[in-house]
Amino acid sequence: MNVLLGVGGGIAAYKAAELARALMEGGARVQVVMTAAAQEFVRPLTFAALTGRKVITDLFSSASGDATLSSAVEHIAVAQENGLFAVAPATADLLAKFANGLADDFLTTAYLAFTGPVILAPAMNTNMWLHPATRENVKRLRDRGHRIVEPEEGYLACGMTGAGRLASPDAIARAVLAEGNRRSDLEGETVLVTAGPTQEPIDPVRYLTNRSSGKMGYAIAEAARARGARVILVSGPVHIQAPRDVTLVPVRTANEMRAAVLDRLDKATIIVKSAAVADFHVSRPPEQKIKKTAARLTLELDPTPDILSELGRRKGDRLLIGFAAETENLNREAHRKLETKNCDMIVGNLVGGALGFDSDENEVVLALRTGETVPVERASKRAIADRIFDEALRLRQALHARQ
Ligand code: CTP
Repeated sequence: MNVLLGVGGGIAAYKAAELARALMEGGARVQVVMTAAAQEFVRPLTFAALTGRKVITDLFSSASGDATLSSAVEHIAVAQENGLFAVAPATADLLAKFANGLADDFLTTAYLAFTGPVILAPAMNTNMWLHPATRENVKRLRDRGHRIVEPEEGYLACGMTGAGRLASPDAIARAVLAEGNRRSDLEGETVLVTAGPTQEPIDPVRYLTNRSSGKMGYAIAEAARARGARVILVSGPVHIQAPRDVTLVPVRTANEMRAAVLDRLDKATIIVKSAAVADFHVSRPPEQKIKKTAARLTLELDPTPDILSELGRRKGDRLLIGFAAETENLNREAHRKLETKNCDMIVGNLVGGALGFDSDENEVVLALRTGETVPVERASKRAIADRIFDEALRLRQALHARQ
């Protein structure tokens, strides 16, 4: 695993030396890039001695030596050679630059040229960490799918006590190495994801739908793709962009979603049914617009097919992951749906409050076929998506071991 380790300019820069060593002990090849400010705190030689490689210190002096045209495009080569991009300490300035796409030195330029997983370990004064500008930058970086290794609370070099101290080099190394292992753990799998709401026509101009934004399902599709899976995303109507390199199958109604999923069932090894499928529809909507002549309008609704239950009957040895959107009794309902729909996992989330539909974050419980319940704390939907796959792969091993 090749790791580009960016070192920012903060007192904690010296701890990055220990991090570099921990990464190498974990089997990584480490290319260090230091900002100009970082070099005020630690000399590049420290990292060169530890990693056995020349440290990159600015945009126009390359790891290979002299300043040539090739060194001027080295940030592109370095971005391509490395599978992971980690930064510790990530200063407030670096977070702001990454969040806004500013690229005025090697590290920030390489960041823009990099397409793989990014892990950032911030360290700064408490007030700087809590400042709304930093909060916004961190949120944007998280929403982009980057992993933030939260700073710890403690005594800071500035004399204050509070949040902002760099996480321990061991904790950062674990996060980086775990990200590296995830990178390919879904290779060879085809993940079929459903996302978004469905729209059930009432007449040619009106429809029944729900508040689902599709964000959770799209985050699942993106996570699966990032971990090496082929991804088929069957999506109801949403207003968000599909992730790169996934096969998008747009559908509108529950019946269309059912047909699209069953058509592709043979290809799938893992199915994640995060769509909020309408439970009822007008089975034969009129061809003409309903006029408001009557004093009262009664709609007759029939149940839609329960796609997840049908998949539960036909799943074979595929991993089947369903969702449960609840307003109460989350754990009980998640386990009940796990049983009745014959799933391997149900991701239960409380809806109707601040989290859930349309939010960028979520907080869920995972009800597993083994009978376990795994709570997942509030995090970005992208981070939750990764936890779902971590647990799904662990579950598959546990189920195989039982056979
Ligand atoms: N689901 C489905 N087809 C339906 C309804 C739901 O495949 N017609 C799936 C959803 O994609 C989700 C799971 O079933 O994975 C649970 O959806 P949810 O709305 O929470 O539960 P329901 O089965 O609709 O039960 P209830 O509305 O009674 O809570």
